[in-house]
Amino acid sequence: MSIIAPSLLAANFLRLEDECKMVNESEADWLHLDVMDGQFVPNISFGIPVIEHVRKATSKICDVHLMIEKPENLVPAFKKAGADNIIIHYEVCPNLHRNIQQIKELGINAAVAVNPHTPVFLLEDVLADLHHVLIMTVNPGFGGQKFIPYSLEKIRQLRKMIDEKKLNVLIEVDGGVTVENAKDLVNAGADVLVAGNTVFSSKDPLETIKQLKLVTR
Ligand code: DX5
Ligand code: ZN
Repeated sequence: MSIIAPSLLAANFLRLEDECKMVNESEADWLHLDVMDGQFVPNISFGIPVIEHVRKATSKICDVHLMIEKPENLVPAFKKAGADNIIIHYEVCPNLHRNIQQIKELGINAAVAVNPHTPVFLLEDVLADLHHVLIMTVNPGFGGQKFIPYSLEKIRQLRKMIDEKKLNVLIEVDGGVTVENAKDLVNAGADVLVAGNTVFSSKDPLETIKQLKLVTR
């Protein structure tokens, strides 16, 4: 069964406490929190004060996806706000190795995300230092976009790299995940599925999370 991480970006922001309660009661494993800066991505979402409150309302692992430039300036503040995992983007980190060490030194899990145009082989030299890799399967910035099909091949390539090196790094997939494509993603090698609209726009989010768990058994 894969790890399911509902993305709060698709939740009703007027009812965040209720949305967190729903996730708490669900079979979801992580809560995915998308932070956007309007620079690296063409949208702004939420930041540190919101995550501080969400942290108090959730019993799940907080998986914080930083779609921001110069993440090193804010990583300590996101850890303080309650992040269990911090994901930074390959595309904004010229000193990626240092940035990964900074996260690990804070005692939390370090992950790196790659955009659709960034080949996974660029992570080869840092792979052993990572808790997980996030493969963006849409262009970052918005929820509710369509899954980019060639991402399946990227998942397979990364799975092969991880297995050949006998590492324990998880593969997380983010963007356009549905109950219909979940099984293919897991068969390609994904361990963690982020689902925003599939969960929060569904009639019965608890049942949808259950379905995502079931189809990825
Ligand atoms: C997009 C975010 C995603 C987003 C996924 O930039 O990183 O986490 O919330 O939303 P869906 O599942 O609706 O594609
Ligand atoms: Zn995300």
